[in-house]
Amino acid sequence: MRIKSLHNVKFKVPDLVQTEAFAQDFGLLTVECNEQHLIMRTGGGDAFAYVAEKADKASFVGLAFEVDSKDDLESAISEHGASPIQALSTPGGGIGVTLTDPNGFKIDLVYGIERVAAEPAYGQLVMNAPGQYTREERFEPKRPMAPAKLFRLGHVGLFIPSFGQSLPWYKDVLGLIPSDVYHIPGQPQAQIVGFCRLDRGEELVDHHVIALMQSQTGEAACHHISFEAQDFEAQFMTHRYLESKEYELVWGVGRHPHGSHIFDVWRDPDRNRFETFSDTDRLKASDGSRVHNIAEVEMDVWSSEPPDRYFE
Ligand SMILES: [Fe+2]
Repeated sequence: MRIKSLHNVKFKVPDLVQTEAFAQDFGLLTVECNEQHLIMRTGGGDAFAYVAEKADKASFVGLAFEVDSKDDLESAISEHGASPIQALSTPGGGIGVTLTDPNGFKIDLVYGIERVAAEPAYGQLVMNAPGQYTREERFEPKRPMAPAKLFRLGHVGLFIPSFGQSLPWYKDVLGLIPSDVYHIPGQPQAQIVGFCRLDRGEELVDHHVIALMQSQTGEAACHHISFEAQDFEAQFMTHRYLESKEYELVWGVGRHPHGSHIFDVWRDPDRNRFETFSDTDRLKASDGSRVHNIAEVEMDVWSSEPPDRYFE
């Protein structure tokens, strides 16, 4: 079975109106909002990328990956005990099956969801640099102070009680490949964090689609969801925009050492972390895996320390 891409995430939230207001300010576009659920998309062409169901208490339900064919759904049933194939009632139709990971997260595999027309992007930045003065005009990006243009759901970070149980499941069932793995100082066998990418053979994919992080408390939860923004300037402008709306900053703007992507993380009204990213490394299956002592990993190459609230 080959996973094609990450497609959507699903949460339960107590106040759909409040969640929608934040998500719109963050840059998501409303597809449907009624008494029962909120469905939002990016501007990149996926029919939807974020689902919130009304519930008394906020929680993370799970996520969905798109697969290449109906055969992949059938092998998920025969090889991994996925639920029977069902027609999806979400925008764009399609079919899907559901797996449950070792943490109780619902992992849907979906196929055949119709895409929608993509929103236009801003013009690409042309940067002048020493010796490479390629811009021929004045710098006039003309980007408004407004919610970000987001292009796709790129990755999800998960807090898990047991890295040793979760990593094999994501490798064996979904075929993910660890790109960078962190272990406890002095104990190379005691791995606690893993950034895993899709296996698309020689096709380049994001450095990670799933980040598995062993939680200190034994909880299973979503750590963050991350959407691709156009570039660093879009992220800095979104940062300012969210600041002006008095939302709670978690951490950013910074650049991670593994994956190289520029990140900026904010909290929604239920304290879920929403991240923008840009300029991620892209790897192929043959690029292998690396293992690091977590004590030697600087989490932001621009040298800001992650605040406690990044992990709480
Ligand atoms: Fe991230």
